[in-house]
Amino acid sequence: MTKFADIKGFVFDLDGVITDTSVLHGNAWHQLADSLGVSWSDDLANGLKGISRMDSLEMILKAGHKENDYSQDQKVALATQKNDNYVAEVNKMTPANILPGMKAFLDDLRDKGYQLSLASASKNAPRVLDKLQLADYFPQVVDPASLTHGKPDPEIYTKGAQLLSLDPAQCIGIEDAAAGVQAINAAGEVSLGIGDAHELAAADMVFADTASVTLENIAKRLG
Ligand code: BG6
Ligand code: MG
Repeated sequence: MTKFADIKGFVFDLDGVITDTSVLHGNAWHQLADSLGVSWSDDLANGLKGISRMDSLEMILKAGHKENDYSQDQKVALATQKNDNYVAEVNKMTPANILPGMKAFLDDLRDKGYQLSLASASKNAPRVLDKLQLADYFPQVVDPASLTHGKPDPEIYTKGAQLLSLDPAQCIGIEDAAAGVQAINAAGEVSLGIGDAHELAAADMVFADTASVTLENIAKRLG
């Protein structure tokens, strides 16, 4: 098992980790599911966390047994409709939307010389970082458009470590989604989950909320 002293970098998810955009994504998908007559559930909402835009749409259509009801062009139009609603909400965001403790954690990491990269599946990540005034913290952002496979595939976390020129074992990946924790583990990084311990049981360590995520607490768990 990796020791705390081996850690040199942190690879961050964004939605649901740094800010609560996972709720905004969920609301926008819920609205689309309602308009398509697909019934919404907590399981569906949780399963969508971390999943790319088109894969999310496919999951929703599948949940309603409608995966064969739309052409590719129609699917793109549905995903665009969801994204337009999501972006309208993102445009209202300010630094006040940073989750508790996250700004202090990022400052601490930067002060102590850890390297940071972003491994968000969201094509809107640069816009969200800009709204939160956090873009300076993340000069290294994995471009989700460059990926062959989305989470739970490890590709995005592997690239997140590569951008820092670090070995995956020198990195901690931070996630709120089960699919993301799976991706971190498969990439060979230490996985830190934020949220429900049962849902994120595969993570190397789980914190109930963002405020508990501090270097001191991480060091205690890693030893
Ligand atoms: C992930 C979110 O970070 O990004 C998902 O957890 C979202 O809910 C995915 O679907 C893709 O985001 P976007 O902004 O490119 O549609
Ligand atoms: Mg997330």
